[in-house]
Amino acid sequence: MQTFQNNKNRKFNAVITGVGMYFPEKVMDNKFFESIVDTSDEWIMTRTGIKERRLLEEGGTSVMATKAVEDLLKSKNMSAEEIDLIICATVTPDMFFPATACLVQDNIGAKNAWGFDLSAACSGFLFALKTGAQFIESGAYKKVVVIGADKMSAITDYTDRNNCILFGDGASAVLLEPTEDFNYGIQDAILHVDGSGRSHLCMTGGGSWNPPSHETVDKKMHYIYQEGKAVFKVAVVGMADVTTQIMEKNSLCSEDIAYLVPHQANLRIISATAERMGITKDKVMINIDRYGNTTSCTIPSCLTEYYRAGKIKKGDKLILAAFGAGFTWGSIYLVWGVD
Ligand code: UT7
Repeated sequence: MQTFQNNKNRKFNAVITGVGMYFPEKVMDNKFFESIVDTSDEWIMTRTGIKERRLLEEGGTSVMATKAVEDLLKSKNMSAEEIDLIICATVTPDMFFPATACLVQDNIGAKNAWGFDLSAACSGFLFALKTGAQFIESGAYKKVVVIGADKMSAITDYTDRNNCILFGDGASAVLLEPTEDFNYGIQDAILHVDGSGRSHLCMTGGGSWNPPSHETVDKKMHYIYQEGKAVFKVAVVGMADVTTQIMEKNSLCSEDIAYLVPHQANLRIISATAERMGITKDKVMINIDRYGNTTSCTIPSCLTEYYRAGKIKKGDKLILAAFGAGFTWGSIYLVWGVD
């Protein structure tokens, strides 16, 4: 477990100053799933809170990640050449190598940037955000783009009703910049991994342990494997514990918090987390109903939608929280720093 104290030695705080996102047009609603597996709109809605998700029909994760960054740059009226670093959180890279960050760099013409991918499943955006923030806080860079992008449809078994109804495709990105005003930006982070949970949520085929073969394909090892109930139980405890811990550590009470920004895996996990934090529904960012679980894209896309809807104001205190495969989980406390 890593906790990061409010560090007086920082040169700067890292602030999110821009947002962007891209969701493919093709919609898969619950009726569609009724036609391909033994399920119902009612079961999916009551058990997960999902109504529909998006499907990328052509190309890989880099297609969506590129469009999300282009959307961010357009809204900031900023050139790609200004970017110093691109971090792409994903578990569905276009290919093992080169990294999706390299593909995005080339697609957008970010000639002065370097970059890399980061794999932390549903916690990927939080891990990438904290990593990107370090480069800003140290004074090393001025413009870091952090992407959360996943084409979950590429690793979803559409004959498995337990899992296929959960996931969707999407990409979202934020821009981190420095501020000398320490009242704004990323204030604190608590991040965890526990690899002993690896067997409950994983994709075991295609890597160096089980290289692709007819056998790995026959055994469907190139798809997500999830023991839903087991993951549900640890996710509820992990999300609730880490969010209350970061609140206590920063002397925050529920009234101080403008929004909980949770990973969107299941509305019931989100509600349990909010309840434990003492936060009312109207202070919880939700988009799971329209996009399902888009893995590393859920948190930045919530930020993008709520900011663009004028619902986040400068000075708002946000608690970001996620739980995912690994297990990985964590929480970030930030103060929104732009109007
Ligand atoms: O994002 C990364 C972290 N992942 C998560 O946080 C996901 C955590 N898990 C979950 O969100 C939930 O466990 C699920 C949504 C995956 C499943 O909900 P659940 O309430 O835990 O259901 P269950 O797996 O215990 O299944 C209950 C019943 C079973 O039938 P029986 O054995 O009671 O007869 C399932 O076979 O529901 C059945 N079922 C379905 N029925 C209709 C499972 N999937 C479906 C389905 N439609 N799609």
